[in-house]
Amino acid sequence: MNLFIFFCIFVQFSIIQVRTDECELTSNDADVQLTTKTFLQSRQFCSETRFPSRNTRQIIISGRLVDYTARCKRGISQADIEIIHGQSGFHPICRELHHPNSRGFYNLSTVIVTPFTGQLYIRVTSPGYETVLKRVPISLSSQRKRKTIFLQLKLAMVRSEAQMEQQQDQQTQRMNSIVDTLMSQMTIEEKIGQLNLVTVGFDVTGPIVSENVDENIRQGRIGGVFNTFTPKGVRPLQELAMNHTRLKIPLIFGYDVIHGHRTIFPISLGMSTTWDMAVIETSARIAAQEATADGLNWVFSPMVDIARDARWGRISEGAGEDPWLGSQIAAAMVRGYQGSDLSSSNTVIACLKHFALYGGAEAGRDYNTVDMSRITMYNYFLPPYHAAVEAGAGSVMTSFNEIDSIPASGNRWLLQDLLRDQWKFNGFVVTDYTAINEMIEHGVGNLQEVSARALNAGVDMDMVGEGFLTTLLKSVQEGKVTEQTINQACRRILEAKYKLGLFDDPYRYCDDSRPGTDIFTNENRLAARDFARRSFVLLKTDRKTLPLARSNSTIALIGPLADDRRNLLGSWSAAGNWNQSVSVREGIINLVGNKNQVLFAKGSNLIEDTYMLQQLNAHGGEIVIDTQSAQQMIDEAVGIASKSDVVVAVVGESQGMTGEAASRVDIGLPECQKRLLQALFNTGKPVVIVLMNGRPMTLTWEHEHAAAILETWFAGTEAGNAIAEVLFGLYNPAGKLTTTFPRHVGQIPLYYNHKQTGRPFNATQFTDKYKSRYLDIPNDPLYPFGHGFSYTTFEFGTISGDKSELRGDSDRLTVRVPISNRGAYGGEEVVQLYISDPAASVTRAVRELKNFKKIYLRAQQTDEVTFVVTTNDLKFYNTNLDYVWEEGDFIIHIGPDSVNTQSIRVKWLK
Ligand SMILES: *[C@@H]1O[C@H](CO)[C@@H](O)[C@H](O)[C@H]1NC(C)=O
Ligand SMILES: *[C@@H]1O[C@H](CO)[C@@H](O)[C@H](O)[C@H]1NC(C)=O
Ligand SMILES: *[C@@H]1O[C@H](CO)[C@@H](O)[C@H](O)[C@H]1NC(C)=O
Ligand SMILES: *[C@@H]1O[C@H](CO)[C@@H](O)[C@H](O)[C@H]1NC(C)=O
Ligand SMILES: *[C@@H]1O[C@H](CO)[C@@H](O)[C@H](O)[C@H]1NC(C)=O
Repeated sequence: MNLFIFFCIFVQFSIIQVRTDECELTSNDADVQLTTKTFLQSRQFCSETRFPSRNTRQIIISGRLVDYTARCKRGISQADIEIIHGQSGFHPICRELHHPNSRGFYNLSTVIVTPFTGQLYIRVTSPGYETVLKRVPISLSSQRKRKTIFLQLKLAMVRSEAQMEQQQDQQTQRMNSIVDTLMSQMTIEEKIGQLNLVTVGFDVTGPIVSENVDENIRQGRIGGVFNTFTPKGVRPLQELAMNHTRLKIPLIFGYDVIHGHRTIFPISLGMSTTWDMAVIETSARIAAQEATADGLNWVFSPMVDIARDARWGRISEGAGEDPWLGSQIAAAMVRGYQGSDLSSSNTVIACLKHFALYGGAEAGRDYNTVDMSRITMYNYFLPPYHAAVEAGAGSVMTSFNEIDSIPASGNRWLLQDLLRDQWKFNGFVVTDYTAINEMIEHGVGNLQEVSARALNAGVDMDMVGEGFLTTLLKSVQEGKVTEQTINQACRRILEAKYKLGLFDDPYRYCDDSRPGTDIFTNENRLAARDFARRSFVLLKTDRKTLPLARSNSTIALIGPLADDRRNLLGSWSAAGNWNQSVSVREGIINLVGNKNQVLFAKGSNLIEDTYMLQQLNAHGGEIVIDTQSAQQMIDEAVGIASKSDVVVAVVGESQGMTGEAASRVDIGLPECQKRLLQALFNTGKPVVIVLMNGRPMTLTWEHEHAAAILETWFAGTEAGNAIAEVLFGLYNPAGKLTTTFPRHVGQIPLYYNHKQTGRPFNATQFTDKYKSRYLDIPNDPLYPFGHGFSYTTFEFGTISGDKSELRGDSDRLTVRVPISNRGAYGGEEVVQLYISDPAASVTRAVRELKNFKKIYLRAQQTDEVTFVVTTNDLKFYNTNLDYVWEEGDFIIHIGPDSVNTQSIRVKWLK
């Protein structure tokens, strides 16, 4: 019998291909090693085929080469693909060379003799691209059987630096000449006009909507527009700029594309719990595809604010509490949106936000004061912004808060010294909505003063407030700002327009045919479903109730969110239409409706608290209080629960209860939903809680009583289908928390990478009084960072390091851990690596995430995960804000979450 091994690397759109269970095998980009130009000239071809004799294996590798950096679907047709033995290729036992076809597909076959001791690689070389060397993960035992091994590899190719640099130089020259020429013709009023961003359309997050837009465009007083989209909406405005202004400078068009554009993906916090950079990048790629088809070329994403406070509603928009993971995600989002060529008609300029520290709001109250030491900023809050800048983010949005008592939009240290001088950011800076005007409320001056201050600090574009438009000329005349500063800001806006290709074709993003072909496609919906499944976190499981039987059972589907579409998209799903989303009830019926009895009852209102209800409904909450009394609803629910085998209770927050301006001090389930759950628990039936919410919640009581809890966040357009697939075991959940879930709101801020203090509490010495602890509850969270179960059980073997003492910057520590799937289902595990630095010149966090690998293991399969630790992983900002590592002991922890880890100790000397 042949042994089939399918090994798939899913990047780009391939992620949504319908897959067999085997093909669900996950790999990731980490396996694709990019080497520098080491292509070897000597080639030796397989001359004889001894297959099928004993001790031989035939290996067939087929797959596709895709350009990872440019247009995602473009195959690479010009390449040499070899199967080689040994990384260097110096010991070719047998080597075959093939070329891909015109669409990038290749099919190689080679025969090798066993027992085989070397490593097997495939190497791809293509002009203008980095060489890819891919280790093929097959074990060739010495069994005396003929075998054919099939592998399917999709390889991502990245353009080589040399080629990119050369192209960039030419582009930069052309850009400079176009911008110089234009600016030499512009009046100062026209330059100031470029710095003005107005809103035209429906989404308004503040009190002011821009006025006289048509006339202002004609007068050259507007540089960009947001909240207008669709080619039909965008084209007339662009025509105003192109037909009726003196210098015909095109406008840029921005929008809040946050977690998908029309096809809505899980909220950003949910995307982060996939711990899958290929998925996250692809989500941004698809969003860019849809947004550009809709006339847009600039998106206000990614939001990369680190948050440690679950009361803050916008924790739902970020990637959680960890700076290292947040940095990976920030970079993946930028790559996905921008690709490598902003002038392509399917890429957009990303806008990194909110710069900076917006997630540090005191008391978790939105827009509140932030006060933070520099060293905390540098070590814990700034890294994701820096990573997005390094990834080439084309724009940055200032935050509403103050930093060191100066509002971000007027903070020159932040926008010039840090962003431009230290980080070498060369895009443009835009404010958040009316953030310049809000500096008046902050108490740092009148409109003219704060506008001058913002420009001088490094803001290039004023969102909606028109402080630049109305006061800068006066400030120039009075010597408060220089024309040179205005020139610089104007130049940055024009450069962005050049990079988008708008000077070559201002209507590049106005193709009327594209909405029909590129938006809300089946392919995109399948992607949304896949991302949603991957974002779910199994918070609790009794290991028997889930997955649910696919036939012959009676399911009581209960809860205010069970038959709901309105809330599934979450906040900031601006162009998403909730009418098109799939409810949990529909998803379950779609999947198993004909083989099971599905009984439904709403059971309770979403909320009854009128203080909150009034506010939610004043802003599109559409929460309707049922005509039945609370008790009638509960009675009905209990009635169907007692007739059923299992209860699925879909509960949580309404979409408006998290997000912008949606802070809460009580982060538990609303009381009316808790009363429903209590009644359901009382029936004695197993209750599976399906949670929808946008923040960590306090679930201590629910945790005690539920058979299982599945966290689904707000999962987007395909939420119901994805939830059904997970409940019924078509996909085994593998998400891991990126935020700590406290036991009680009073523990906040609670985060895994906290400091030790001088009096750490040790739970084994329970009655110790003079320790950093609470009298009434433990210190530890309900669910720690990194937590998440699976339907199967992963057993971690003993971890081992190849060295116990290391020396110098170039040394490498290799840490290995065997992992076995001991259960009945295939599944993925996120293997996490943390490092502690127990003695340093400054206090360090008790541990910090420094790496992870997401692996797939079939039932009963064992594999080994290897991590390489370098001195980069030991670095931190010291008291002088230098990024250093210090010699001494380090503890390496590996485990399935941030708590249940094993460790080894090593010494690393200078
Ligand atoms: C690759 O080649 C093998 C053996 O010649 C063949 O069985 C297989 O169908 C081919 N696959 C593709 C995708 O062409
Ligand atoms: C701009 O000019 C084009 C081409 O002449 C014309 O079709 C279009 O209607 C004009 N639009 C506006 C708003 O003037
Ligand atoms: C479901 O019930 C039908 C009819 O009683 C039976 O034929 C079938 O085997 C059952 N399926 C399972 C999975 O128990
Ligand atoms: C959603 O559907 C309702 C009822 O059919 C309709 O009134 C509403 O306009 C729709 N909303 C959107 C955004 O399409
Ligand atoms: C807590 O105390 C126990 C018993 O003294 C000790 O074995 C353990 O290492 C301590 N834990 C920590 C984290 O210090």
